[in-house]
Amino acid sequence: MALVEIEKLTSHYGRIPALRGVDMRIEERQLSVLVGANGAGKTTLMRTISGVRPASGGDIRFEGASIRRLSAAKRVRLGIAQVPEGRQMFPALTVEDNLVMGGYTRTSAEIREGIDRAFALFPILKTKRRELAGTLSGGQQQMLAIARALMSKPRLLLLDEPSMGLAPLLVAEIFRSVQKLQAEGVTIFLVEQNAHAALKIADRAYVMETGRTVLEGTGPELLANDRVRQAYLGI
Ligand SMILES: Nc1ncnc2c1ncn2[C@@H]1O[C@H](COP(=O)(O)OP(=O)(O)OP(=O)(O)O)[C@@H](O)[C@H]1O
Ligand SMILES: [Mg+2]
Repeated sequence: MALVEIEKLTSHYGRIPALRGVDMRIEERQLSVLVGANGAGKTTLMRTISGVRPASGGDIRFEGASIRRLSAAKRVRLGIAQVPEGRQMFPALTVEDNLVMGGYTRTSAEIREGIDRAFALFPILKTKRRELAGTLSGGQQQMLAIARALMSKPRLLLLDEPSMGLAPLLVAEIFRSVQKLQAEGVTIFLVEQNAHAALKIADRAYVMETGRTVLEGTGPELLANDRVRQAYLGI
């Protein structure tokens, strides 16, 4: 059984469909990647998995049980954490306090443990722990957003375009952290515009077009696929 099984999932904004029947499986401990053009529905899918948005039809199962009707807070407690598109931290709070806020479901001992773990993964955050999050660079803010999501000790981490707006060196660093988290046993679902870099590290990859998954394969399979090369790799 896959950790997440998504079946015929639909979602609407008012009457307008954004997801038109998504089928997808996210295997435990794998890095699954989703690519697709602007407006394809990638963020909507992530938000529907985390429960920030309601589904209008179909199902999402986590460890075999439907979570479709659970609140976002209940899904966090089950082990689903989302790093939203655009990072969205508390700019007027310190780095450390942002992490504490991310651990609202945990005990204070777990929060301390989580902060240590975050600082081990992103040492730069440790040196900036007392600074306001709003003063961090874009790359540091992305690290903080990931670290904050990890405070709930998720089994499934949803990452929405973590490399957006970052210089190439920082993109590489973020991708290395993602691989490190995977090695620690976290299952990762990554949405990326940076299709080449993402497909290179993907165990499983999906292409989404206008609210549907239209292609699926291993990372190498999609990297070699003509349609993917033309539409997403510019080759
Ligand atoms: N809050 C909203 N209200 C109405 N329509 C929306 C809303 N958010 C997204 N949409 C529409 O839903 C569709 C899917 O949008 P979504 O943001 O999920 O795409 P995306 O693949 O994440 O795009 P991008 O690559 O630009 O981040 C688009 O047609 C978009 O215009
Ligand atoms: Mg998006």
